Amino acid sequence: MPADSKSPSLVRDLVTLQGQILAQQARHPEATGTLSWLLSALSISAKIIASHVRRARLEDVLGAVGSSNVQGEQQQKLDVIANEVLLRTLGRREGVAIIASEENEEPMILRTEKDGKARYCVLFDPLDGSSNLDVCGAVGTIFSILRYDRRAAHAEDSLLQPGSSQVAAGYILYGPSTVFTFTIGNGVDMFVLDPAIGAFVHVERELRIPASGKSYSVNEGNRLGFPAGYQAYLDFAQNNGYSSRYAGAMVADVHRTLLKGGVFLYPPTTKAPAGKLRLMYEANPMAMLVEQAGGKALAGPGQRILDERPTNIHQRTPVIIGSPDEVDLVIQHLQASGA
Ligand code: AHG
Ligand code: MN
Ligand code: MN
Repeated sequence: MPADSKSPSLVRDLVTLQGQILAQQARHPEATGTLSWLLSALSISAKIIASHVRRARLEDVLGAVGSSNVQGEQQQKLDVIANEVLLRTLGRREGVAIIASEENEEPMILRTEKDGKARYCVLFDPLDGSSNLDVCGAVGTIFSILRYDRRAAHAEDSLLQPGSSQVAAGYILYGPSTVFTFTIGNGVDMFVLDPAIGAFVHVERELRIPASGKSYSVNEGNRLGFPAGYQAYLDFAQNNGYSSRYAGAMVADVHRTLLKGGVFLYPPTTKAPAGKLRLMYEANPMAMLVEQAGGKALAGPGQRILDERPTNIHQRTPVIIGSPDEVDLVIQHLQASGA
């Protein structure tokens, strides 16, 4: 605070991501600091990826590399760069046992000694919405942290935990500003990168999603392939003054939904009966964040995303995520149509 609180001051009272992580750690005397190191590795990765994203056109790293990832999707050059940044930064942290990326077919098993310090598995979508890059649209990174199960017969089996077991989850949005949002299971915190000081500055504590919001976010180009209940919901929304908002990057769409309310959908389609989004890298971390903010995240009626039992780290799931009242409305339409 300035000495004279009436006089204007250019000095802000600010809390940085680093400071907040250490403060949370201090509240848990039993904490070893391992999780704090992982979050700090993620924040460094975010700054590096943000700088590449910002300079993509100048560094000539736009466009496809000419190869496909394990999902059969075209990899963009920045998908590969962001993946490398995360693998390298997290890979050096001795608390990390296993890393799994949307871009790699197999997880990287780093440290599995039964008595070692490695306690966590980190899963991520290094660059979400990467097809937005060529047009300077928003993209993101999504991460999920699970406890490493030393008793698992095969190290990889440690990854196949339901989302309800996540220790932490979050996203980084690379938009007009870089936003780091995460939860360690006690509410949602949001930070914005201040490029002037190179630090993420705390902007929201215990963020709450609005209970309702008249906007829906879905790729309506796929509408004719949606189950009837989704089509009935869209009729309802359009007849009741809803707005349509779709960035084409889940991070950007969920970020807006968290702040403004509404619902984000990626339904099953006739071509993709399990939808497009990946349970472990996209749906689970976003579901944890949204639930921690007071929202709901379902795959269908009675199907909480966080309760899904994964059998494959790359599996997909339908997603209905957002304000509790809006998710309920979608579910009512699915139930009414017998879906
Ligand atoms: P990614 O770039 O990691 O493959 O993810 C893209 C995802 C998600 O971000 C977005 O919500 C969705 O794909 C958009 O898909 P459509 O183009 O089918 O709408
Ligand atoms: Mn993605
Ligand atoms: Mn991706």
